[in-house]
Amino acid sequence: MHRQAIGIDIGGSSIKAAIVDLTRGALVGERKSVPSPAMSAVSEMMDAMATAVPEGATNLAAGVTFPGVVVGGTVYTAANVAKAWIGQPLAEPAAAKLKRKVVAINDADAAGLAEVHFGAARDVAGVVLVLALGTGIGSALFVDGKLVPNTELGHLEFDGMEAEARASGRARMERKLDWGGYMKELSYVLQRTHALFWPDLIVLCGGITGDHPNMVEDLVCRAPLKLGALRADAGIVGAAFATTLAQGVWIQQAKAAGN
Ligand code: BGC
Repeated sequence: MHRQAIGIDIGGSSIKAAIVDLTRGALVGERKSVPSPAMSAVSEMMDAMATAVPEGATNLAAGVTFPGVVVGGTVYTAANVAKAWIGQPLAEPAAAKLKRKVVAINDADAAGLAEVHFGAARDVAGVVLVLALGTGIGSALFVDGKLVPNTELGHLEFDGMEAEARASGRARMERKLDWGGYMKELSYVLQRTHALFWPDLIVLCGGITGDHPNMVEDLVCRAPLKLGALRADAGIVGAAFATTLAQGVWIQQAKAAGN
């Protein structure tokens, strides 16, 4: 296994990328950020992604996140980005553009991998749920450290309202909730989600957790709650880590291609 890989985190507003040290789960060198054309054509995304990737390091594989369901390198949902992404292959054109092996993964799954391997949920056995609060609510579910991919729990409906419409970072702004009101709504989502999955630990990630480092004290939930430790780097680190999980698939692909 290479000790380094490139992590690329595609968000609604920016694409962030860096080389990641996979033994420490830490960025190596600078983190590049470019505006994200998430609402425009796929080719524009490929161009923007290429400008975000650090120069050199041509031998390193890359992991790329996407804010939607990703199965076998293809995007299947686009709740908060251009609908043109639905059914669009991502790993394959990214590999062609970046001239390296690329694995694609849901953004919250990537953040979850980073927290489970290097952060707040490191060495935690049992069921761990990582929730990423941003434009939407992303989810990553782990059982004894193994990811159950693409869980999409932000789209669970409670009392006729999707969890992410009720308590994402964007919902907080759009619903003009004050901090107390937001904590109440988020607690409700946590409690209802807890009642369905009974996780041993819930880790909260996303920009809002960086701005409110004590927010766990304002939340009510039966499960222990922790804030993510990798903060804004979780997506990049998790994307890079996903390359280590893709090795088997790449070996099979190479065999099938006769290499
Ligand atoms: C998407 C998820 C994504 C989350 C956070 C949701 O709307 O459906 O796939 O992980 O937003 O970006």
